[in-house]
Amino acid sequence: MELIGPFSQILPLTDLPLKGPLQDEQLTIIEHGGVVTDNGKIIATGTFKELQHQFPDCDVTRITVPAVLLPGFIDCHTHICFDGSRNRDYAMRIAGKSYLEIARAGGGIWDSVTKTRAADPEVLMTNTVLRANRHLREGVTTIEVKSGYGLDMDGELNMLQAIRAAASHTKATLVPTCLAAHMRPKDFEGDDTAYLAWILKSLLPVLQSEQLTQRVDIFIEETAFSPEAARHFLQQAAEMGFAATVHADQFSTGGAAVAVAAGALSADHLEASDDAAISLLAAADIVAVVLPGASLGLGMQYAPARKLLDAGAAVAIASDWNPGSAPMGDLLLQAAVLSAAQKLSAAEVFAGLTSRAAKALALENVGQLTAGYLADMQAYPCADYRDILYYQGKMKPVKVWKEGGPVF
Ligand code: NIG
Ligand code: FE
Repeated sequence: MELIGPFSQILPLTDLPLKGPLQDEQLTIIEHGGVVTDNGKIIATGTFKELQHQFPDCDVTRITVPAVLLPGFIDCHTHICFDGSRNRDYAMRIAGKSYLEIARAGGGIWDSVTKTRAADPEVLMTNTVLRANRHLREGVTTIEVKSGYGLDMDGELNMLQAIRAAASHTKATLVPTCLAAHMRPKDFEGDDTAYLAWILKSLLPVLQSEQLTQRVDIFIEETAFSPEAARHFLQQAAEMGFAATVHADQFSTGGAAVAVAAGALSADHLEASDDAAISLLAAADIVAVVLPGASLGLGMQYAPARKLLDAGAAVAIASDWNPGSAPMGDLLLQAAVLSAAQKLSAAEVFAGLTSRAAKALALENVGQLTAGYLADMQAYPCADYRDILYYQGKMKPVKVWKEGGPVF
């Protein structure tokens, strides 16, 4: 058993409502706090003095500098398993070229598919570990990772096997998701319906028998799959036992309604969501995941996070880290920038990076410093939690713990 502290402040982020607006007054702040961990789990939080009396035989790890302790962040939407850069796409985009012009020049998702298919499985694994470890050092202790740059049997299996191998080479928890329904690959002989049918009949049973993932995702968009095709796909995948998440309303509406109807865990993107979609998301038991990194990468508007919260939705914030639209991968910076633009309170941002993101992944033991939860924690070099968003992501954690063990 270990007692760690004293921290200037501990924000356990327990008992925050999972839906709707939050004010900073709702945050519990333990001044001069401590945390007791054992076997990778939280045993207790409280003032350091109280815990010293309560657990007199504990090993004590003393914190000798000002520090604010938070639960580790959860990035519930990433594409960090890929090979190759899309810096050419980015250069064209910032120079004003259109999506079509970039695609015609050989850019877009297909470029990453070509490069990822050609990559050695070892390289894919290493790339994923390096990105996961960068996230971990920045306080992100749980990371969802999608396939979706394979788009055929070998390509998707390679990616999901690389993600599984990566999980045993990083301390971060990786949650794999099959995004074979990212786009219909150019070399598939058949239409969208036939491609989705192939995923359902041929790919998903293999993923199930190899226990590579229990989650599916689909990109609903004019350039990807239609709402009608997605509705059928998600229904069939649910019947097979897959949990769902959806790339919805990024450029056009229709996706969020399908995600809600399908009982998906989350609807992600939502930059184009209108009032009708916002009402549907708020009324349903679904997490609305906003991806400011994609807005920054594409130079487009943010998802209406403020409106979603005010309507009563559960809003999580994720990085969408991918080689095309969101190459930066700095979750805290993106959340901080979003909070200034959309007027989100610190409580809303922190809940969106912890308990609400945990809900998007259906994880029940992370995202809070509560007895019984994993001791996934991060400490920032300040005495007042408000400094963390004030520095807009420039202040990074000085220490991160994964299941009670320091990761650096
Ligand atoms: O979430 N929207 C679709 N898919 C990714 C982009 C992937 C890519 O461009 O490689 C996204 O933004
Ligand atoms: Fe994405």
